[in-house]
Amino acid sequence: MQEKIIILDFGSQYTQLIARRVRELNVYCEIHPFNHLPEFDQSVKGVIFSGSPFSVRQEDAPQIDLSLFHQQYPLLGVCYGAQYLAHTSGGEVIPSTIREYGRANLQYIDETHSLLKNIPHDSQVWMSHGDTISEIPEEFEVIASTDTVKVAAYHIKGTKTYGIQFHPEVTHSTDGKQLLENFLVDICGCSQDWTPDSFVESTISSLRGKLGNDKVVLGLSGGVDSSVAAVLLHRAIGPNLHCIFVDNGLLRKDEFAQVLDSYKHMGLNVRGINAKDRFLSQLAGIKDPEQKRKVIGRVFIEVFDDAAHEVQDVKWLGQGTIYPDVIESVSVKGPSATIKSHHNVGGLPDFMKLKVVEPLNTLFKDEVRKVGKTLGIDDVILGRHPFPGPGLAIRILGDITAEKVAILQEADAIYINNLKTSGWYDKVWQAGAIFLPVQSVGVMGDERTYENVICLRAVGSVDGMTADWSHLPYELLAKISNEIINNVKGINRVVYDISSKPPATIEWE
Ligand code: XMP
Repeated sequence: MQEKIIILDFGSQYTQLIARRVRELNVYCEIHPFNHLPEFDQSVKGVIFSGSPFSVRQEDAPQIDLSLFHQQYPLLGVCYGAQYLAHTSGGEVIPSTIREYGRANLQYIDETHSLLKNIPHDSQVWMSHGDTISEIPEEFEVIASTDTVKVAAYHIKGTKTYGIQFHPEVTHSTDGKQLLENFLVDICGCSQDWTPDSFVESTISSLRGKLGNDKVVLGLSGGVDSSVAAVLLHRAIGPNLHCIFVDNGLLRKDEFAQVLDSYKHMGLNVRGINAKDRFLSQLAGIKDPEQKRKVIGRVFIEVFDDAAHEVQDVKWLGQGTIYPDVIESVSVKGPSATIKSHHNVGGLPDFMKLKVVEPLNTLFKDEVRKVGKTLGIDDVILGRHPFPGPGLAIRILGDITAEKVAILQEADAIYINNLKTSGWYDKVWQAGAIFLPVQSVGVMGDERTYENVICLRAVGSVDGMTADWSHLPYELLAKISNEIINNVKGINRVVYDISSKPPATIEWE
């Protein structure tokens, strides 16, 4: 049985970060909202309470039934989690009068407690709270303080329950990882055996058990997630995995042929379908971005469904869903408002009635890459920038024509090749060219031109939620601009997007 840590989420912006740190320590963990408790069985080695935007003193503050696990499993309360435990045990939590936000140092540390093993005196920690624990119940003992926060960390005597009012998961807490490791290893007794290799091994064997001799269809997109999901399934069930890779005519230049080729080299049973004309004809004249997404989503399902029906007796649909999508859909607040209706390979039409298998639905993006590496997947696929499902359709502002797609593909290829040869491709998180619905005057030789504008976009990001525009060198931008204007007929002007997200978004549509 896979041992695990349960992280109960009270709505903090840092909850996912706690999970990532735990996983970096090779311990498997799951995030569950405080109001949807999971089963607490023998596989649970310990529990972590996250922080929260709420104050424990608020009437509508998150509440939880502690009797299910308190003092039965080791427990670490972080920030709100610590204050909640203190508050419900008879301690006092009040609004803090001094600033408890930002860096602080642990002036007092009781090193006899294994939670604080190897944490140096003066260790820097990150505080972020409006309330503070002013009094602790008798059975509590203070085990660390800063010069202003007396109860920086506490222990409930005779138990394995701890609370800390700082955030060990953020990198500003310089010894936060050590503290988490102390909790996981010394206090919970975790064996730190959750690695990409062990994930691959156990996933393949559980997929075999689950799927038996059943057939699975899976739509490949050329992206990291669907590729890794496919290779895992392929390792488990071999030719019973039927992959479908659709050319919607909106991919990067030559990408369909190249990616199809690498899939075949990986031994996947993959069928490439040229549906360019079907997509382009359905998109003709459509300018509204959301409408484009809907049409592409619908046509994709139609094409995929036709192809899937040709596989006899298929029972399962494989998907590359990853953990952040799962957490999002069951989060404390429910799915957050979508700004753009993201179409991904997905959306199962009712009539297909297939069961869904999602081998990556417990992994974060960086873990998917590590698993991909373990599986021997080529860096060309693993190191790929994210690329939106609707592809170039949302990078051509306004209506889409085959001619505009061809122009954008050429310009984009020059841009991306230059990023690769200059070493910038791996330094930016995502890059692409955008075709603007603007014509401007230029001059070439003796002739006046009136042609289109290409915008270059490159951003740094961790997860696409926020992003900064990348500071590409002027010389590189100059080279790319020259090459595009000199080689791509129809373009006489290149601009660079210097907006960050928020308030802008990464894509223009
Ligand atoms: P935005 O433009 O919302 O993009 O800042 C954030 C990330 O999401 C990608 N994106 C999409 N991906 N279908 C997708 O599969 C879509 O409709 C879509 N729209 C945006 C975008 O490329 C970036 O990585």
